Parts: sequence; structure tokens; C-alpha cells
Amino acid sequence: MGIVLGIESSCDETAAALVTTDRRIVAQRVASQDESHAPYGGVVPEIAARAHAERLTPMIEAVMHEAGLTLAELDAIAATAGPGLIGGVMVGLVSAKALAMAGDVPLIAVNHLEGHALSPRLADADLEFPYALLLVSGGHCQILRVDGVGQYRRLATTIDDALGEAFDKTAKILGLGFPGGPAVERLAREGDPRAVPLPRPLIGSGEPHFSFAGLKSAVLRAKESGQHGDADLAASFQQAALDCVLDRLRVALDTMEPVPALVVAGGVAANQVIRHALEQFASKRGMRFVAPPMALCTDNAAMIAWAGCERLGQSDPLDIAARPRWPLDPEAEPVRGAGYKA
Ligand code: KG4
Ligand code: ZN
Repeated sequence: MGIVLGIESSCDETAAALVTTDRRIVAQRVASQDESHAPYGGVVPEIAARAHAERLTPMIEAVMHEAGLTLAELDAIAATAGPGLIGGVMVGLVSAKALAMAGDVPLIAVNHLEGHALSPRLADADLEFPYALLLVSGGHCQILRVDGVGQYRRLATTIDDALGEAFDKTAKILGLGFPGGPAVERLAREGDPRAVPLPRPLIGSGEPHFSFAGLKSAVLRAKESGQHGDADLAASFQQAALDCVLDRLRVALDTMEPVPALVVAGGVAANQVIRHALEQFASKRGMRFVAPPMALCTDNAAMIAWAGCERLGQSDPLDIAARPRWPLDPEAEPVRGAGYKA
């Protein structure tokens, strides 16, 4: 059995966790910076980096203290090395390097997206490779085939906004504050998903990519028209986004060899309506559906520590650089679109 310290600081969550190779989360801390960024309606990189720098060290000390461990007793230190906001990533990676050097412990530089991609295996010991993965967060929106640790084939990405970003922008339009996903989901419960006619960008397209910018603009126009209540707008937006997700998934799954399981990960996987619809979608196709518990969906360090567990035995040099961009599938072709995201 091995134990790995995980560190996450790529966006607006500062987190540290200790996870064992037999899937035990021994200790964990997560601090969200929502309040610091709320006045700006989005994550401000400079504020985020400063907050990580202030909070991370006490958090690492807290998890180590709680577990009663010294640095030398760790089997590895795993830190997010990208992709993400570079200032924050550097704070986490530099801390990990210093600790790895002080404790003479291997450093494992983890791709944040790999953390999300493997997180369902931390929660579910029965989930084996290969599986189809819908990775939907604030910064990413992809469909991947996961064949093993480090083996990812990207089938689809977004040509503009990520799904979580679309939720956040809709929340902003409706004056719901930041982060928007949970607020939109809550308000949508009181609305009619068929009340507002909204577009379903790219539905019917033969390639499984996503696009949400047009949907967000349509929400803005519908809001400005003054003809609809906010709850109906939220519910109709959520329904339109969900229809897109299911259609795009159908196309992606039809183009690949069948896999036994459909897995969802990333912050938007916390959405109950989307989870439920995905579960039904998977069961209709005879696939198992796996979604990690909520706390493992949004950014956290347990998933980074777990990715370290999956890679135990490997190590990275102490001069490894933080990477603002780091695609899981380097072979994937860029797709056309205004704001292409790797
Ligand atoms: O994975 P995550 O914590 O950070 C990134 O790596 O981006 O994802 C955060 C995103 C935000 O856009 C947030 O609005 C969205 O996940 N999110 C949700 C829900 N909870 C979080 N979106 C829809 N419904 C939710 N319940
Ligand atoms: Zn994330």
C-alpha cells in the first residue's frame, strides 16, 4: 500500500489531500475562493494566485498533521502542473517541489484533466479501462475514450465555451452570482424547461464537438426581451444544454468501438438533472454509468493524489515546468472556432 500527498491550485480551489493506493482518502482540505472572485463575476488570476500562496502551506500541514505523517513517509507528492491559471499552478508545483526535495520523495506532475479523468476510479474500485468519459467543467468540455493511465483519445471538444462556462454566463445574465452552475440548477427546479425556445448549437452535426456561445447569447436576448421569468430561462437553458450533451455523446459513442461504461467527471457532473439524464442515456445503450460523488466532481486534491497513486513508481524532474495548456490527447486535431480550447 502506498500513500500520496496531492496538491491542487490550478483555478480557484486551493486543496491538499492524502490518498492511499487502496482508495482511502486519509485526510483532505479544500478552500474555495468564491467570495474573493464573486465581485468580478469570474476568477481573477492574480487574486487566485495570491490566495493559493496564502492558504496552501497551512493546508498541507493540516492534512499531514491529521494523518500523523512525516514527509519521508510519503510514497510520492503529486501536484497539478497544468493546464490552468499559470500563477496558481506555479504556487502548487513549487510547493510540491520544495517538499519533495526536503523529504526526498518522488514528485509526480499531474495533468489536472487526468485528475478529473481518473477520479471515478478512486470512487469506484470496479471501474476498469476502457471507458467513455464526458469531462465537463468550467474550463473544459470534452468527450474522451480512456484506455489506461496516460492513454486518452479525445473524440470531441468545444469550439467556444465549456459547459460550466455556459452555466456561469447564464447565471451572470440572470444575476445569480458566481459560480453559477449550482445557482442555475436550483432556479431551474422552479421553471418550465420548455417555456423559452432556445437553440441547440451543433445538434445533428456529424462530428461530436460542442458549442455553447450561441446558446448563451440566446439566453441573453431572451432575458432582455423581458418576456420570460428567470426560472423558465434557467430551466430552458439547462434543458437546451442537456439536449446538446446527449446528442454530442450519441455521435461520439457511435464513432468508437463500444466500451462498457460511461463516466462523467468535472464540476458540471455535480448537476443532478444532467447526472440523471446521463444515467438513463447509458442504460438505454446497455452501458454502466459511473459518476463520482459531488466532492470529487468539483476541483479537489484527492483526485490529484489519486492520479499520483495510479502513476506511483514514476517521477518527474524537480525542474519540470508548469503548463498553462496541456491537452490530454496531444494527437487530437485542433477544431475550428473562435475560442478554441485544448
Ligand atoms: O471542475 P471544476 O470545479 O473547475 C474547473 O476545472 O473548471 O468545475 C467548475 C464548473 C463551474 O463552471 C461551475 O459553474 C460548474 O462547474 N458547476 C455546475 C454545477 N456545480 C458546479 N454546473 C452545473 N450544475 C451544477 N450543479
Ligand atoms: Zn477542474
